[in-house]
Amino acid sequence: MSVLASPEGTRRYEARMREKVASDHFRTWPGSMDAADAEGTLRLSSVGMGSYTGPTTPAADDQYRDAVQEAVRAGINVIDCAINYRHQRSERALGKGIRTLIDQGEIQRDEILVMTKGGYLPFDGDAPADPAGYLRRTYFDPGIADPGEVVAGCHCIAPKYLENQLGRSLENFGLAAVDVYFLHNLEQQLDEVSREEFAIRVENAFAYLESEAEKGRIGIYGVATWNGFRVPTDRKEHLDLAELYALAEKVGGVGHRFRALQLPYNLGMLEAVNVPSQAVQGQQVPILVAAQVFGMLTVTSVPLLQGQILGHLPATFSKMAGLTTPAQRALQFARSSPGIHAPLVGMKTRAHVQENARVATVSPLDPQAFQAAMGG
Ligand SMILES: NC(=O)c1ccc[n+]([C@@H]2O[C@H](COP(=O)([O-])OP(=O)(O)OC[C@H]3O[C@@H](n4cnc5c(N)ncnc54)[C@H](OP(=O)(O)O)[C@@H]3O)[C@@H](O)[C@H]2O)c1
Repeated sequence: MSVLASPEGTRRYEARMREKVASDHFRTWPGSMDAADAEGTLRLSSVGMGSYTGPTTPAADDQYRDAVQEAVRAGINVIDCAINYRHQRSERALGKGIRTLIDQGEIQRDEILVMTKGGYLPFDGDAPADPAGYLRRTYFDPGIADPGEVVAGCHCIAPKYLENQLGRSLENFGLAAVDVYFLHNLEQQLDEVSREEFAIRVENAFAYLESEAEKGRIGIYGVATWNGFRVPTDRKEHLDLAELYALAEKVGGVGHRFRALQLPYNLGMLEAVNVPSQAVQGQQVPILVAAQVFGMLTVTSVPLLQGQILGHLPATFSKMAGLTTPAQRALQFARSSPGIHAPLVGMKTRAHVQENARVATVSPLDPQAFQAAMGG
């Protein structure tokens, strides 16, 4: 049995969900999103689950454990986390939920796509009284992270450090492998290092991640970003997808595993479609266009702007058939945007999971309905 999402596993899952979700809720990756039967491809839900927010309490842990089960039962097989979310508690809670589903025979591991991120130096369970002392004892004194390779006092992508973090993440989840390993907010490095040094660090990190993909502890890797792909080219934190792709090819050849992107996208953050931040084939294009050219698996964060967008949706959104709540409509907008495989919605409250999973029961908007929702 595969310890990663597999073509057969994700199709098995899709077949089981057939009665519950719309026929085009699942998308194909890699390749054309709409192609149902391309050999060797995964079938992934067009809504994913995130796990960033919430208190560091056992009660919130239990909520996330239950939420991931509810989500997977409802047709969501894309799950996102990061080692530092809720000081490692989110990985542990999701892991508990996922392992229980597997142990009970409700799913098999190869039916779901598990994504996590490394880069930020995480605490363990809670913020310590002496954060600097904790980081020194845990990471610097044992030689896991070299202070010279850490930026902003909290972010590191050196191979030795990433190896430690991937190991911790796998332990937190209780899984043998994760499907997507993201370098978390990679642009953070550009706060402090030159573009030349940045390229060296990224190349080393990618070479390490290629070796983990070889070993099978990760499926593919990518970058999860905040500003990097949304800002114009002259900004210090700007990330260039073509440059990153070239570095991956340099260390991994044409079959490299740098295949995934994560970035914010919602009605209040539309830079992914309207800032031409990327140079592709001699043209400046927005990141969602560039990502399609490079064949990246593209998932988006903060689809509800952490709840802030819910009271501010335009009237045109009310025309979305079958969906009645602002959260459902905001998710429908994101999942119907060209180039996005799945918005990742943060949800630990059972009622939110149930409400959001309803989106899976309707088809994504066709291009005409999407334009109408956008007021076009
Ligand atoms: N740089 C990065 O890589 C980055 C940055 C931010 C986020 N992310 C990822 O993207 C995911 C989504 O972003 P996010 O969690 O920050 O923001 P979000 O998905 O826009 O919003 C999450 C918040 O909305 C609430 N919510 C969920 N469904 C709702 C509903 N139907 N009605 C009302 N409120 C609802 C959640 O509450 P409950 O939790 O109580 O259900 C939570 O407080 C994260 O979880 C994380 O996995 C990545």
